Amino acid sequence: MHCHYFDVGACRSCTNLAVPYDEQLMRKQTSVEHTLAARVAPEAWLSPTASRPAAFRNKVKFAVGGHVDAPTLGLALPGRPAVDLRECPIQERPIWDVVPDLAGFITYARLMPYDVDARTGELKFVIVTTNTDGELLVRFVVRTNDGVDRLSAALPALTDRLPQIVAVSANIHPQHKAVVEGDVEIALTPTQTLRAAVGDVTLHLQHRSFFQTNTDVAAALYRQARAWADDVDARQVLDLYCGVGGFALHLADGTRRVHGVEIEPSAIDSARRSAADAGLEASVTFDVGDASTLVMPEHDVPDLVVVNPPRRGIEALADALERSCVAHVIYSSCNPTSLAADLAAMPSFDVRAARLFDMFPHTNHAEVAALLSRRPA
Ligand SMILES: C[S@@+](CC[C@H](N)C(=O)[O-])C[C@H]1O[C@@H](n2cnc3c(N)ncnc32)[C@H](O)[C@@H]1O
Repeated sequence: MHCHYFDVGACRSCTNLAVPYDEQLMRKQTSVEHTLAARVAPEAWLSPTASRPAAFRNKVKFAVGGHVDAPTLGLALPGRPAVDLRECPIQERPIWDVVPDLAGFITYARLMPYDVDARTGELKFVIVTTNTDGELLVRFVVRTNDGVDRLSAALPALTDRLPQIVAVSANIHPQHKAVVEGDVEIALTPTQTLRAAVGDVTLHLQHRSFFQTNTDVAAALYRQARAWADDVDARQVLDLYCGVGGFALHLADGTRRVHGVEIEPSAIDSARRSAADAGLEASVTFDVGDASTLVMPEHDVPDLVVVNPPRRGIEALADALERSCVAHVIYSSCNPTSLAADLAAMPSFDVRAARLFDMFPHTNHAEVAALLSRRPA
């Protein structure tokens, strides 16, 4: 992938871009094998799943900078001039295509870009998510209600011009903090979800719900989980940290019982809607809950537990799984270091297979999924 921002040193987010993609993948594979060597035997590794090297990212957070008459969409870091990255080659094409119109809209609506050094201005971020049909969900992160009023008044000019924008909201983030967004979200269009086809299912994406940023690689990951669930003939599955239900809905076969647990209520709303759309409400259910403190049932024990936690890993849940009667675990991790620690806390399980899914090309980040089976007593 060629990137002129990288070439001129304007953006170095893709730290490994100078390395040819095949070699990047080989190095990442070597690195995860090394990190997980204590628990994953060399012969357990399946060949890594590659990504498209460019145009693979379905969600982009643009920090807004510059002047209202010439806004930049890209990076805005303290003590440095804002950088415009509107032609960043990792974003999927439908996002790339609308950035000039979004910049024009900022000018039209007179939304003053936030100045991170002076702590003045209104518009902090524009966050755009696309589905494979090119439809878009757009969020504007503003500082005050004045920003919301300006957005609402001007919005028809944007949505009339770009009918592929199906959902728009404003997030209010008054504080000067490193985190991207605040607690209050205001819907600016009647529709607030984006329907996204991922692999064999359609998911409802909403502003607060986590969604894997590389749609093709996510689909490969979900299909791998289904293949492993079939291999171990799982009939009752618990999907922990289930998000909008990608694993759960791929594992559903109409007869297998799958239950998803997730801490974010809007993700559970989305997951339930997707199960209903697919006619799977009877066999696939979801609840809001804290997976890290879950007590494994003594009766009616699931034969397979899927875990896909945030970077910190599964914490106390590793011990709960170790002490339970659960026979199989599929662990999908975006942090090989916490995965290694969690596997160490589950010595009764053998890692039967593991695979690198290159969700984040050109960086050192790695997604690894592993199938674990309890060793017979
Ligand atoms: C890496 S994402 C995985 C989402 C989903 N499995 C997928 O494939 O899209 C981790 C998810 O865990 C959720 N989460 C974080 N802490 C949690 C907790 N203590 N209990 C349950 N879910 C949690 C997050 O909201 C997020 O949706």
